[in-house]
Amino acid sequence: MKEIKRHTITAALPYANGPLHIGHIAGAYLPADIHVRNLRQRGKEVLFICGSDEHGAAITIRALKEGTTPRAIVDKYHALMDRAFREFGIRFDIYDRTSSDLHRETSQAFFLKLLENGAFSVQEEQQYYDEEAKQFLADRYIMGTCPTCGNPDAYGDQCERCGSALSPKDLIDPRSTLSGAKPVLKPTQHWYLRMDEAQQWVERWMNTGELDGAMHHDPREWKASVLGQCNSWLKDGLRPRAMTRDLDWGVPVPLPDARGKVLYVWLDAPIGYISATKRWAKDHNADWEKWWKAEDTRLIHFIGKDNIVFHAIIFPILLKLHGGFVLPQNVPANEFLNLEGRKISTSRNWAVWLHEYLERWPGRQDELRYCLGTILPEQKDSEFTWKDFQEKNNNELVAIIGNFVQRVFVLCHKYYGGRAPGAGAATGQDLALWSTVHASAEEVARHIDHFRFRDALASAMNVARAGNKYLSDHEPWKLEKTDPERTRTILANSLNVAAVLSIVLEPFLPHTAEKLRRMLGLGDLPWAHAFRSDLIGEGQELGKPEHLFKPITDAEIQPEIDRLHANAPQGQEQGQQAAPVAKSEHRSAEAGGSGVVSAKATIAFDDFAKLDLRVGTIVAAERVPKADKLLKLAIDIGEAVPRTVVSGIAAHYAPEQLAGQQVVLVANLEPRKMRGVESQGMVLMAEDAGGRLVFVQPRDAVGPGGEVR
Ligand code: MF3
Ligand code: ZN
Repeated sequence: MKEIKRHTITAALPYANGPLHIGHIAGAYLPADIHVRNLRQRGKEVLFICGSDEHGAAITIRALKEGTTPRAIVDKYHALMDRAFREFGIRFDIYDRTSSDLHRETSQAFFLKLLENGAFSVQEEQQYYDEEAKQFLADRYIMGTCPTCGNPDAYGDQCERCGSALSPKDLIDPRSTLSGAKPVLKPTQHWYLRMDEAQQWVERWMNTGELDGAMHHDPREWKASVLGQCNSWLKDGLRPRAMTRDLDWGVPVPLPDARGKVLYVWLDAPIGYISATKRWAKDHNADWEKWWKAEDTRLIHFIGKDNIVFHAIIFPILLKLHGGFVLPQNVPANEFLNLEGRKISTSRNWAVWLHEYLERWPGRQDELRYCLGTILPEQKDSEFTWKDFQEKNNNELVAIIGNFVQRVFVLCHKYYGGRAPGAGAATGQDLALWSTVHASAEEVARHIDHFRFRDALASAMNVARAGNKYLSDHEPWKLEKTDPERTRTILANSLNVAAVLSIVLEPFLPHTAEKLRRMLGLGDLPWAHAFRSDLIGEGQELGKPEHLFKPITDAEIQPEIDRLHANAPQGQEQGQQAAPVAKSEHRSAEAGGSGVVSAKATIAFDDFAKLDLRVGTIVAAERVPKADKLLKLAIDIGEAVPRTVVSGIAAHYAPEQLAGQQVVLVANLEPRKMRGVESQGMVLMAEDAGGRLVFVQPRDAVGPGGEVR
């Protein structure tokens, strides 16, 4: 294998159609950031690339739902994600976006080069078309009944109830989500990547590491789950896949006979890694090509398991067929993170949103980084709970790191006026301490190199544990009176362990490491310094003893748990099974989910039962003088006299339209005087995205006074 000169590290481009949650972070961004930070400490040349994936049906559908434009959606979520990443300390060299001109040019040129190289076959196929909306329908724009489980609201690509992968033609009674119309099949042509022709070399490359007669990577370094998923695909035989779609939001296919067609995510998002590199290079007056083309570049893609085949098979084929690019050396995909016993679900608002965490726990980024670092779903799905977060904070961050550093600093201030003591002669115990500390530091890097970030974090914690134990074994706070000389040595060693700790914690807890360095009067230190024991010289001035972490009480944690339950719709509360893993659920809110579903807290059934809702018929309606919003309605709900109700609907209905309309009335609402008229109830209205109010009505006529429940 070639000697490695530089590392190009990518993290999956998240869709800009919803905010980030802890599942995203644990899946790809935190491990990538840990890896990159450690490489930098070790003086490696690294480029860390990410950006927003701003194209595709996920975004247009979200825009449709929110009654706005795709541009507005991506602008909003790009800014939100960029900020959340930054504040959380995920330190990309560039966080770009795929709606840029540079990206469009780059992916179009990539497509044309593939075309020139004969990578595509053009195939005509029958595809659903919406005659009212006059457009072909992307998979996500079609809904219908799932052939597997009968869910009437399955999508053209997937049923979110039973998890089956579908194609639109599988759906029973398909309907267009654009117009509701029954779509018709119409021929359309698309560019298919000849993946079938790549079968042999992909199989060989992935499983033996051999490419074009040379060793490319060590397949034993690949995760079993990644190889497993890819090999099961390979066993089925690679087939041509359409790289284009009929959609009006995306990178247009750069050909005259391809109007209304865009590049599909496979030929769009990962090219975003390349265009982001170009952007970065322009901004830094640097060369982009070596990061993608030089033989001595190590390319690594951090992703979640929903993107495995994409990055380990499809993207490598694209790179190879284009020519001139290196292939990924590894694709260390993570599994999924669950939350409080359930799958994370953006559509059900069962998630811990990163931007909300940052707001509610200001300055506590490392606490979450730590907790997630200990539960990264590296081998199998794992679970986040707020209790675990609290316990890890209290029992590990506070009790191990915080306690160690605090004790050392307090004692050094007390005995030496805040100046570091000299180390003096070392005993066997001191040497044992250092051999543990240095062995742990060595393990940190070794685990990181093999994408075992949980183990790496545990090894880093062992440095703090060793320091803590050393203090407890020697009790310098007692020893000072009888043996001040030995006490100096113990505290000098402890300070130096804290210095090593500031280095080994950096990849995981960068904010804490920085604080600790400040307290110790140190700057950024290279990784090699973690193997020294003399980083703090005698007489060095120390900062004030700061608390690195604060205990978290039950009173602080319980509201988080309550919020989660309050904001999730009730279906789940009653033990309904969450849908099996749907790709969209874990990536970020896709078509199925509108993210935050309800802003109101959950109510008990008894609260609902207090409402007396009745069907009524409007028998008369007139304007309320000097109030241009209000109408005075007489509503028959089967009582002796019709109710008088004042309703703010004058802008939406003319009084003469109303007689005979059925409505739903809140019949036991406390009467209220409006403009001198007593209103004896409230009419239920529904509001559309444009602010238009319409009556909520029974679909079939119901006698006056019919109960609604
Ligand atoms: N945005 C897509 C997703 O979240 C693709 C991410 S991977 C990339 O699934 F290569 F395309 F960036
Ligand atoms: Zn189904």
